[in-house]
Amino acid sequence: MNSAKPAGALVVRGIGRLLSMAPGAPAEGLRDAVVVIRDGDIEWAGARSDLPAGIGDDLPTLDAGGGLVTPGLVECHTHLVHGGSRSDEFEARAAGTPYEDIARRGGGILRTVAATRAASRAELVETAIPRIRDFLARGVTTIEVKSGYGLDLPSEMKILEAIRDLQAATPADLVPTFLGAHAIPPEAVADRGALVRSIAEEWIPAVAQAGLARFCDVFCETVAFTADEARRILQAGLEHGLRPKIHADQLTACGGAELAARMGAVSADHLDCAPAGSLAGLAAAGTVAVLLPGCMVSLGRTRFPDARPFRAAGIPVAVSTDYNPGSSVTRDLPLMGTFAMAYLGLSLADAWAAVTSSAAAAVGLGDRVGRVAPGFQGDLAIWPGDDPRGPFYTYGGAAPDVVVKRGSVVVRRAVGYPVQGPVS
Ligand code: NIG
Ligand code: FE
Repeated sequence: MNSAKPAGALVVRGIGRLLSMAPGAPAEGLRDAVVVIRDGDIEWAGARSDLPAGIGDDLPTLDAGGGLVTPGLVECHTHLVHGGSRSDEFEARAAGTPYEDIARRGGGILRTVAATRAASRAELVETAIPRIRDFLARGVTTIEVKSGYGLDLPSEMKILEAIRDLQAATPADLVPTFLGAHAIPPEAVADRGALVRSIAEEWIPAVAQAGLARFCDVFCETVAFTADEARRILQAGLEHGLRPKIHADQLTACGGAELAARMGAVSADHLDCAPAGSLAGLAAAGTVAVLLPGCMVSLGRTRFPDARPFRAAGIPVAVSTDYNPGSSVTRDLPLMGTFAMAYLGLSLADAWAAVTSSAAAAVGLGDRVGRVAPGFQGDLAIWPGDDPRGPFYTYGGAAPDVVVKRGSVVVRRAVGYPVQGPVS
């Protein structure tokens, strides 16, 4: 994970409150805290009064100005590499045309597929860079990125190679996911069986062989792949070392959540229509429920998913923007925290977990990012004011003043946060 990148070292002092997300840490945050980062990883975090003598004395100091320090946020579900725009579909939905109808008429995902197939890899990289910068500016230091707008092997490879190029161009960690089974491309409608076989027997081995993805995802839905097709594809992914994720039960209850449980998926995403009977299986499988409230806005819906049954069943809940050009055109992850509290029924502590530690678990990195604790990466967001409610209470455009990735300052919005002392 980004190991070729420079690993920074810093002592962060002047922390008004530290929300470390470490198990047992105070939910309201630790006052007057210090974080020491060495070689890109957290060496020590805790109350200033407990800081052992000598730790970090040789490192440059970053003054947090009395602000709130949290883990760098983890965005666990995006489709950020794509060509084109679908703003006209947003307008059509406002006039009453449902998302599924637009998709059935060749709009929706297939529109973006046409634009993405027409774009060069360099163009895809160029258009994705500002989107990644936008995520970083909102405190996001780890981003899952799916393919899925190619839908043939060369185009899917082009997207995954673009994601690899992007990884070299940004300090954020990008986690690549193969989503070749995102929609049925027009050329495959006549023979779906052949498409599923190609994905399982040709595309997945090629992607895995090239080392271009860590996860395999499938859109399991009436307008996309059946649960049985999804199972065959995810099974092939598993056989090639790609862990399963599922776009499950977004528009209808079609067996996605049950399949996620049966296959031990790392995450089941959307879940708006997941049947109550599927929750015990998800809990037993350790699957993270990823809820995507941004879709409610782009799709013009008002029935937000309810996080409470998932939490009651002991399932970790993450939230994500689901950034994509059709069903969720936002990169405002803190706003998803606001939605989590206002509409999904999550507590403040659970909303923070949903954009940090649980989101990290949803991308298989629960032991490396999403917490401020020894052994985790030195990824921090420093927010103005020391109120842990602040970034969700103030909604729409909330952003940290400073973002630290692997011990290096990568975003600095305001003056007044100087790094002093020796720079290693
Ligand atoms: O996560 N649900 C399927 N895939 C995307 C939508 C992509 C699109 O409309 O372009 C999603 O919502
Ligand atoms: Fe999605």
